[in-house]
Amino acid sequence: MTTVADLPTPALLLDLDRLDANIAGMADRCFRLGVSLRPHLKTHKCVEIARRQRANGARGVTVSTLYEAQVFADHGFHDITWAFPLILNRLQEAERLADRVQLRLTIDSQPAWEALVRCGHPFHVWLKIDCGYHRAGMDPAALETMTLARKLADSPGLTFDGLLTHSGHAYAATSRGEIKRIAEQERRTVADLRERLAADGIHVAASVGSTPAMSVVTSLDGVTEARPGNYVFYDATQVALGSCCAATCAVTVLASVVSRQAGAGHCVVDAGALAMSKDEGPPRPRPTMGRIFAEYDSGVLHQEMHLRFLSQEHGIVTAPLPVGSRVRILPNHSCLTTACCKISSHRRSSLQAYFQVLGSAPDLQEWGLLLQQAQRCTSPTVCSRSSPHERTGHRCKYAQYRPRQ
Ligand SMILES: Cc1ncc(COP(=O)(O)O)c(C=O)c1O
Repeated sequence: MTTVADLPTPALLLDLDRLDANIAGMADRCFRLGVSLRPHLKTHKCVEIARRQRANGARGVTVSTLYEAQVFADHGFHDITWAFPLILNRLQEAERLADRVQLRLTIDSQPAWEALVRCGHPFHVWLKIDCGYHRAGMDPAALETMTLARKLADSPGLTFDGLLTHSGHAYAATSRGEIKRIAEQERRTVADLRERLAADGIHVAASVGSTPAMSVVTSLDGVTEARPGNYVFYDATQVALGSCCAATCAVTVLASVVSRQAGAGHCVVDAGALAMSKDEGPPRPRPTMGRIFAEYDSGVLHQEMHLRFLSQEHGIVTAPLPVGSRVRILPNHSCLTTACCKISSHRRSSLQAYFQVLGSAPDLQEWGLLLQQAQRCTSPTVCSRSSPHERTGHRCKYAQYRPRQ
């Protein structure tokens, strides 16, 4: 029987017990807040996990790329919000996909609306609103926003789904109180605008969501759905923000010490940037490239020892551990880490229930390549013809998990 101690490293481990608890916890939270849950799948990009979310009451899903939308559509997900400002040159592909599933697009500009009207396809459309993050989305107070909302509502053929916003600025908050204020700002922004539109005879839904905001919010009055994503795994950033504790984090990177030199205060592990991602995470309690578990089961993190620097394949740990020893690292950003690695997942209670991605796992560099291909390719078919998918015989990280033989 394979155990964690036997696994070749670096390995991305997924704890199914924690995953299931996180999925159930957010579903329950949304139910109690009176909103439906449309989870963002970019965190895991995995059909099996999405199925678990759907079995726990998720109504529809959210994706960040058209490729994700295509792959999840192929696997029986028929209500998909592409929560990314519309890429005008992908409209024809979106149209093809919308012929077979309910694809909801997101726009925040007049040119995007004009492109939709020219295209003539009866798309469902969200209007993206800026709730203070200032990344994308229209100013809720601007006249142009009301004007574009009116145009959407009056466009024959288009269905104006509603207002969509994302409180990504919650990640920069320095206290729980500040996250609460941001969550309330997000709620109020879309609820107020929704009310103003209703007074104008435009009745639409309102969609919010980030994991930090969803972990503190106590009222979502005026909101109809939430789109958190990271909560399925959580990570060191969410621990620092107080969204969860380390014992709830479901994704870890198992790494081995490969070098320690006499007199050095550090050692080198085999988890570099291609295993972890280079997300710097929160500056508090101190800057790290990943925290290290002192005790995984009880969720105790080392206070002094951590992953400090990353080069492509090397990771520098701030303690001179012996060569051959292993560390279990809590990544700063599980979405990016998962996008870098292959997954071997396990259920702590029954180690025989190991799972591995279907097909022979490519090495980490190849996974990086697969992801780039996935972003670029126009359809899974093109992708499988021109990418390493063919060589590895599976569809990169969208493959379903299969129990290990
Ligand atoms: C538009 C949008 N909605 C929802 C989410 C989910 O946020 P989180 O991963 O914090 O749950 C994201 C994450 O980046 C996003 O960009």
